[in-house]
Amino acid sequence: MKASAPGKVLLLGEHAVVYGYSALAAALGRRVTVEVEEDSKGPAIELLAPATSPTPTSSADLSPIPVPPELLDAASEMAATVGATPLFRARVRSELPLGGGLGSSAALGVALARGFAQLAGRDCPPERAEHLALQLERAFHGAPSGVDPAICARGGVILFRRGEPAQVDRISPRRPLHLVVALTGVARGTRSTVLPLSARRAERPDLYDPMLAFLGELARGGARALERGDFQDLGVRFDAAHGVLAALGVSCPELEQAVAALRSAGALGAKLTGAGGGGAAIGLARDGMHAEGLVRAAEREGLRAFAEEISP
Ligand code: MEV
Repeated sequence: MKASAPGKVLLLGEHAVVYGYSALAAALGRRVTVEVEEDSKGPAIELLAPATSPTPTSSADLSPIPVPPELLDAASEMAATVGATPLFRARVRSELPLGGGLGSSAALGVALARGFAQLAGRDCPPERAEHLALQLERAFHGAPSGVDPAICARGGVILFRRGEPAQVDRISPRRPLHLVVALTGVARGTRSTVLPLSARRAERPDLYDPMLAFLGELARGGARALERGDFQDLGVRFDAAHGVLAALGVSCPELEQAVAALRSAGALGAKLTGAGGGGAAIGLARDGMHAEGLVRAAEREGLRAFAEEISP
């Protein structure tokens, strides 16, 4: 059984979304693919992911990654919930670098949910895949907001607000959005920035809450800017969000270098994306050619980068 799910970028609203404010997320073209089969020697997971290149051109660019025991446990629990055999072998191939802030773990969760459902002969609509992937994420990230599995299960662009149930509005960009993703090469688990920020906020809510609320407002306005096709507006929001995220303490020198490189090459705006502390930065380009120029500028700074078109 073969199934897959896309990675994601947080365009705006990361961290704020953990506290109930809005986030704007977009699915990427790069995916995680899973092949699952019954195997009497299981359960087992084999994981292949890009070690050095974010744009693998052949399977030779992918390296075997050791599978943490928590992942095997969480996957076995998922198989049991779905009604699939506990004796499975899953071969996972990720086009996304792991720990790069691009939703590899949520995409893996969604793809596994779809693969196990096929093995059990069941349907797996997006809401179900999202729910199962969120349970898997909890094994890794402590208290995830749910935005990553929501976008990886649904694709497209969404404005997300956590809750029971979460509020998910599909956003249709008026014209294609050209982004550049620049990888710092620093892999950090989401936990490593989310939990310390939560501790800082618990001590000084008066200082942190207005900043988190502002990030949520930037995301809501960003959704409207996308619908109008107003990328100048969106670029200003990227820059403003990055400033606030840095003030919240979730940037790092490598991300500052990536954001500066994208801005000095003419990006309409640039920011860290996802949990921060490493991972990736995104820059907004005017069009496809400009995006290629931004990729080359990031590469001249020693960063690995790729262009992504997010189509209406
Ligand atoms: C990670 O992609 C986004 C964060 O807001 C964490 C979460 O929402 O679970 C940093």
